[in-house]
Amino acid sequence: MENGRIRNLVVDDPKRCLFQVHRSAYTSPEILELERERVFDRSWIYVGHESEVRNPGDFQSRDVCGRPIILIRDSDGEVRVLINSCTHRGAQVCREAEGNAKTFQCFYHAWTFNNHGDLIGVPDAGGYGPAFKKEELGLKSPPRITNYRGLIFLSFDPDIVDFVTYVAGAKEQLDLIMDQSEAGMEIVGGTHLYSSRANWKMLVENSLESYHVAPLHKSYIDYLRAVGNDVSRAPVRGFGKELGNGNAVEEYEGNWGRPRLRWDPRWGEAAKREIDEYRRRLTERFGAEHALRIAEWNRNVLIYPNLMINDIMGITIRTFYPITPDYMEVRAWSMAPADESPAWRARRLDNFLTFLGPGGLSTPDDNEAMESCQRGFRAVREVEWSDMSRGIVRESQAVDEEQLRSFWRKWNLQITGSRRARSSGRVRRVA
Ligand code: FES
Ligand SMILES: [Fe+2]
Repeated sequence: MENGRIRNLVVDDPKRCLFQVHRSAYTSPEILELERERVFDRSWIYVGHESEVRNPGDFQSRDVCGRPIILIRDSDGEVRVLINSCTHRGAQVCREAEGNAKTFQCFYHAWTFNNHGDLIGVPDAGGYGPAFKKEELGLKSPPRITNYRGLIFLSFDPDIVDFVTYVAGAKEQLDLIMDQSEAGMEIVGGTHLYSSRANWKMLVENSLESYHVAPLHKSYIDYLRAVGNDVSRAPVRGFGKELGNGNAVEEYEGNWGRPRLRWDPRWGEAAKREIDEYRRRLTERFGAEHALRIAEWNRNVLIYPNLMINDIMGITIRTFYPITPDYMEVRAWSMAPADESPAWRARRLDNFLTFLGPGGLSTPDDNEAMESCQRGFRAVREVEWSDMSRGIVRESQAVDEEQLRSFWRKWNLQITGSRRARSSGRVRRVA
């Protein structure tokens, strides 16, 4: 930090085919403060999916962007996002993770709010003067809320661009996922909640590149081979792509099955016939090329800054938020076609648990790698820079890092105000 200005933290030098990130970006408390203000509070942030609050009164309470939030469907059927802080003196009016409620009564002094957020009951209201206006003391909402195909986002920036403009090229990716069923998509009950002793941006990086898959997830590849999958194609065909505004995707073919979309030998011949029929319907709806893209290709989509949708074997919606520079909390849900049969749902959940879940064959490996990097960053004075220039000299492949560079360019612009980063590499430690 120099005179209140952050030095440039990214070297983006196309002439030298060089892209580097300064490691203080993962360790500095000052940078985390700037991230809260300039990144998270100026973005569209994922809250949840409308299927999680299917009936009037259904609610989910969770931390979103560092704030206690209630996602609720009110008695009139409208989905609302309320800030879970009593307008009296601050207590959380909802202390359950999920449920159904017509009202919330604050446990501290018993103010009562209906499920629209209106304040409807104040014990001994006669103790207040004329400036006390019940109608102004309802639960607050974030300034902006949007619903894109059932996905609910909030923003604390009242002037943020509309969501479709914000996600830019990622809209097509969201549609490729949400189009998987005529009946719509839904969240399968249950949340994975875990944490990692690593900076939050490492989960963006880790979720977007396949370079690490062969060495880090060897046990999963061995498992796939053992159960009859063809894992000879390595690396698989694919590419990473900048989608605008920091949004990015890694799209690739996989060696594994995708429930209802791509057959896996473990599932048997009857499942193959069901997949053929479903693929025929997809082709009818979207044409051969688009249907193939939905069914055969995996996609890891980043909605900047902290929503990752992994449409791989199952679909995982994953969001994360930094508590400190070296510690993040992660929440993940499984998404599925609403009209899926119990047999397909069981296969999907098996995938969710065996690969992407916190106790699966992938996530513990990824966590260990990220936490190891974070320990390595303790030597930030001696080893200042991380390299992210892989693939800069060729057309992007899934094992390259173009999609990571896309994230870092937007991040650098927001944090340092620098559009094209300096080329010298002579940047000192910032904090
Ligand atoms: S803090 Fe909620 S009623 Fe007092
Ligand atoms: Fe991984």
